[in-house]
Amino acid sequence: MDILVIGTGAREHALVRALAADPQVTALHAAPGNPGTAALATSHDVDPLDPAAVAALASGLGVDLVVVGPEAPLVAGVADAVRAAGVPVFGPSADAARLEGSKAFAKEVMAAAGVPTAASRTCTDLSQVADALDEFGAPHVVKEDGLAAGKGVAVTDDRAVALAHAGACLDRPGGQVVVEEYLDGPEVSLFVLSDGRDVVALAPAQDFKRIGDGDTGPNTGGMGAYSPLPWAPPGLVDEVLERVARPTVVEMAARGTPFTGVLYCGLALTSRGMRVVEFNARFGDPETQVVLARLATPLAGLLKAAATGRLAEHPPLTWRDEAAVTVVVASAGYPGGARTGDLITGIDDAEQVPGVHVLHAGTALIDGVEGDNLLISAGGRVLSVVGTGSDLASARTAAYAGVARIDLTGSQHRTDIAAQASR
Ligand code: AMP
Ligand code: GLY
Repeated sequence: MDILVIGTGAREHALVRALAADPQVTALHAAPGNPGTAALATSHDVDPLDPAAVAALASGLGVDLVVVGPEAPLVAGVADAVRAAGVPVFGPSADAARLEGSKAFAKEVMAAAGVPTAASRTCTDLSQVADALDEFGAPHVVKEDGLAAGKGVAVTDDRAVALAHAGACLDRPGGQVVVEEYLDGPEVSLFVLSDGRDVVALAPAQDFKRIGDGDTGPNTGGMGAYSPLPWAPPGLVDEVLERVARPTVVEMAARGTPFTGVLYCGLALTSRGMRVVEFNARFGDPETQVVLARLATPLAGLLKAAATGRLAEHPPLTWRDEAAVTVVVASAGYPGGARTGDLITGIDDAEQVPGVHVLHAGTALIDGVEGDNLLISAGGRVLSVVGTGSDLASARTAAYAGVARIDLTGSQHRTDIAAQASR
């Protein structure tokens, strides 16, 4: 099977790495990819947001499957264009990706499907926002309707801050916001694969969204993750399949917009039961890095089955008897204006630590002296260092031993990823 992976992050490097380990895979391509994927896949300088260009690349290469990593290409219709060109694609249509692309739409689908989620109001002006804030009380939760790369949500006790955030979102063209009830309790990410009809869950993971230790500071794209979750209730995955994923997939099919790809269920385990915090229409980053590190089932066949409506025929998934922890190494300044262009060293050393592999995100290669290539930072989240081990404690020790061997001026990472869960 020849496969093209769309995207540039550590999630895509994890996908490429897992696909490369599948004996069915004969060739791997990435567009645009990164220096990490380039070691395993041929890179193509094609804009991932250009549906026609991606479809032309997929047809031209004659690949058997396209896997779309990030949300923006999905919302832009890349999966539709590839499918229209007759190439199987793992990723939802633009209409189905609205489950991530519009929080108001996701709420509407959840209401129609009876999926447990926070009570909410979709607002198009500030007086509606003010009423909704008063209805639900503090802490206030205000979400920009559209894609915002993790920066569209304000959770605050300060009514003025909530109103100001809503005002900024409403000022944008077509602006609407979702105001909702605050959900307490730990968060879980569960990836559910769907072929439009059937659903298969991967293993739950937990993400660390804030920049600072102890969940302090601003939200980021995700600073680390671990899997499995020893504290999760044993019936959680089945409950999410039956109460969340299946009803949502049925509702999307009934609307004539079947969902093919990963339904990423972001969940809060509240004192009143499990609730959906958000849906995403793609794999999570950095959760994918730990989930795929544990998956023993060959990935290519699984994604192809989902892309071609044959999940029901796929054998049950198998998992390595291992835990995985990933720590994100970010540039100075992230999640604000991230500093770039600094030399990165120590990746090979880090990978000498048993159980450690390093995935690239915001990295770039430049020509050094004597023709040597130098690796430099080129984005906010630079690397995902993944450690595996027989339990979370040893996976965590491995991941941090790897991080300690990496040198990047001014870099930041959290020191408490999976700390509590591994005790
Ligand atoms: P979202 O973009 O919807 O995932 O929101 C980003 C983050 O904001 C979530 O991972 C939560 O940590 C937080 N959040 C979102 N909605 C709520 C809510 N209703 N109650 C509490 N926290 C929330
Ligand atoms: N880890 C959060 C996300 O991928 O949205």
